[in-house]
Amino acid sequence: MRILAIETSCDETAISVVECSEGFSKPKFKILSNVVASQIKIHAKWGGVVPNLAKREHLKNLPVVLKKALGKIKIKDIDLIAVTIGPGLEPALWTGINFARDLNKVWDKPIIGINHMEGHIVASLLNSKIKYQKSKLWKFPVMALLVSGGHTELVLIKNWLKYKIIGQTRDDAAGEAFDKVAKMLKLPYPGGPQVAKLAEKFKFQDSSFKINLPRPMINSKDYDFSFSGLKTAVLYKLKELGIMNKELKIAICHEFQQAVIDVLIAKTIRAAKEYKVKSIIAGGGVIANNELRKQLNETIEKNIPNTKFLIPDTKFTTDNAAMISVAAYFRALKKPFGKLRASPQSLKANGNLILK
Ligand code: KG4
Ligand code: ZN
Repeated sequence: MRILAIETSCDETAISVVECSEGFSKPKFKILSNVVASQIKIHAKWGGVVPNLAKREHLKNLPVVLKKALGKIKIKDIDLIAVTIGPGLEPALWTGINFARDLNKVWDKPIIGINHMEGHIVASLLNSKIKYQKSKLWKFPVMALLVSGGHTELVLIKNWLKYKIIGQTRDDAAGEAFDKVAKMLKLPYPGGPQVAKLAEKFKFQDSSFKINLPRPMINSKDYDFSFSGLKTAVLYKLKELGIMNKELKIAICHEFQQAVIDVLIAKTIRAAKEYKVKSIIAGGGVIANNELRKQLNETIEKNIPNTKFLIPDTKFTTDNAAMISVAAYFRALKKPFGKLRASPQSLKANGNLILK
């Protein structure tokens, strides 16, 4: 099954074509194209994503990205159109949905709406480079750690397409905290990769700063998170010190990143133990963070070595459409094909779509 997917939930216009085969037992994915047009430069001026600007850029980018994603692929070889319907910015989501509806009409192909977070979950099956996995498929039950610009959650997956959120952030998402701390340090948007880059430099300098930041909710009995206080702690620290130089920025980035990593890892390991899961998977933009990837892997190997750990290739952690193609494949397997032909008009954007 060749699935063309459209992803416009935030500030990336993405279209992919993925050839999916072998069903639930041994799913295989051949990425025929994976085009992402980033709007970072446009939003960077404003220090964050401006929904109406995102909408305008998606409208402009979609036909160009489609042409690139199709390349030499023939329309007759596409079996299904998938589109992200939420969560995300509604004006941005609608551009993708309307575009998918138009293609459905012109091409006469079935169409399916996909939850963006389900995309981040199944992205963990797109993991070509990781050597330590014996096999690329997870074993149920699975604990998913999803960390992006809009979400931080732990999701228990007992079977295909069955999700139960067991904990989530009570305020800022981890990615949002990275972006806000970067802003305080006058680093460009999006802040996550910038903070990570400076944090990396900490190892190579003999810092005169000893920064200690809190690890919010690390010992709370639930699986919820809170990153707003951590961000405020950075603000107070900067005020208290009253200076801003490269050395301090490096020390702050390192300690802030480690605080986020400590909390994410502690909760994931505890949840994995309590729910006796056989696999841990991770997804979302913050999972592009090398230090988080490394430490999560090491901690799992050390503490729960029999648990399988699946993580996407870095390019599939941040927003992309390949993950939406993959999610659409599993959804399509569960539905009678006739039902996929159901009215495209029923697809609606839902900015707060919940995974269940
Ligand atoms: O999943 P994603 O691309 O979009 C959403 O669905 O939100 O995640 C974007 C988030 C941003 O907050 C960005 O700063 C963060 O992921 N991010 C990172 C890194 N790369 C992207 N955070 C920490 N370290 C990184 N290397
Ligand atoms: Zn995302």
